[in-house]
Amino acid sequence: MSSKNKSVNLTSDSSSIELDIKEASVGPSVVDLKNLYKETGLFTFDPAYSTTASCVSHVTYIDGDEGILEYRGYPIEQLAAKSTYLEVAYLLFNGELPSVNNLQEFRSQVKANMILPEQTKTLFQGFDESAHPMAMLTTSIASLSSLYHEGIDVKNYKHQKEFFFNVLGKTPILVANIFNHRNHTNMGQYDEDLTYAENILRLFFGGDTNYEINPVFAKALDILLVLHADHEQNCSTSSVRLAGSSGTNPYAAIAAGVAALWGPAHGGANEAVVKMFGEIESKENISKYIAKAKDKNDRFRLMGFGHRVYKNFDPRATIIREECHKVLNALENNNNPMFELAQELEQIALQDEYFIERNLYPNVDFYSGIIYQAMGLPKEMFTVMFALARTVGWATHWCEMMAQPKLKIGRPRQLYLGEERRNYISIDQR
Ligand code: SDX
Repeated sequence: MSSKNKSVNLTSDSSSIELDIKEASVGPSVVDLKNLYKETGLFTFDPAYSTTASCVSHVTYIDGDEGILEYRGYPIEQLAAKSTYLEVAYLLFNGELPSVNNLQEFRSQVKANMILPEQTKTLFQGFDESAHPMAMLTTSIASLSSLYHEGIDVKNYKHQKEFFFNVLGKTPILVANIFNHRNHTNMGQYDEDLTYAENILRLFFGGDTNYEINPVFAKALDILLVLHADHEQNCSTSSVRLAGSSGTNPYAAIAAGVAALWGPAHGGANEAVVKMFGEIESKENISKYIAKAKDKNDRFRLMGFGHRVYKNFDPRATIIREECHKVLNALENNNNPMFELAQELEQIALQDEYFIERNLYPNVDFYSGIIYQAMGLPKEMFTVMFALARTVGWATHWCEMMAQPKLKIGRPRQLYLGEERRNYISIDQR
């Protein structure tokens, strides 16, 4: 294959085809394969989509080799240090940071949607108290499609915007209902004078009138929400886009994203990391578990380590580790054996040839659970917190896809290795 200017040539024994290159504004450009099958009879084969660009997007840019993450061009480090989650939500959806008035208007549009219909509230009574929070979130988000369906035109910008603010407003209330349903506690009340993150803590714990919001927790939660807000075409966002490409109800498409996020290879890793720390138990056991992670005959993986895109530090992990220090230092009893174990495990792994050779570094899920646990959340709620933050990313990508002039349903092909055509044999002949 030779490459010149804006195209590449693909040559086989019998033919040669010129494929256009679409230039990126930043990062890798792409080879446009739309004519490949027609002109060569060949499909491409990329089962986990490691090198496949599934869409055009303007939202988030990641450079895995350099450990870069930018929302609409703004580096994640600056956004985590200087913006709030609602500012970032505005930025992701609108493409620009908000003015004071923009932000106030945006906040009131989210707030106006923070009321759950009675039918949705009663849904939670149907869940067993041991039901996993992600099962309850997948179900309750999907249930919104039973209430908001008639009349939605997915290609209508006004309807897309209504959906965006509705799902952004409903999700924190669903998440707070899930938390309080499991705890047999009452949900706290939203307070206009509080920040978005302070209100999340109040909705969770505010049913106890003696509850006081710890500002260090509120700040750390806001940063966690910013860091988890979007991440390009990850598994759950791609699930939202693929489901949405059929023109399905947008709440049903978001439920597809929640379901995909639950997996331990994806957002479910933050819960799996804390389970893993519990299993490792003490620093003395670290080398045994590092050996298990390296043993190809053992399915054990070092949860919170490795990433499909980042072959360097996940910039979010660095920020979260720093937040961990701040949160734990703010606690009276700030010795947190789990945090010490995590840091020791990180140090040992990062010096081990196996992890170095494979560019395996801590990812966004390695330290986040330690902060959520310090705030008083059970590990089963960690992935729900990830989904709470990522809802703005999913909704933004769904809206970006719907704004495309031509919506094409996603429909991959396959490498078929099954039986060749053959004739039916009646049962008495078998
Ligand atoms: C998220 O995509 C996103 O953007 C996701 C996300 C987001 O914000 O949306 O960033 C959020 O999902 C973060 C990832 C959370 N998952 C985990 O922490 C689970 C543990 N990590 C792994 O399962 C794994 O690293 C993945 C799933 C994250 C990435 O897997 P890949 O890209 O498919 O890599 P691979 O499985 O092909 O691994 C390459 C090699 C293999 O060894 P060899 O066959 O080459 O000898 O690295 C090894 C793997 O065995 N490896 C690990 C490992 N991760 C990869 N070995 C031990 N422990 C690990 N964690």
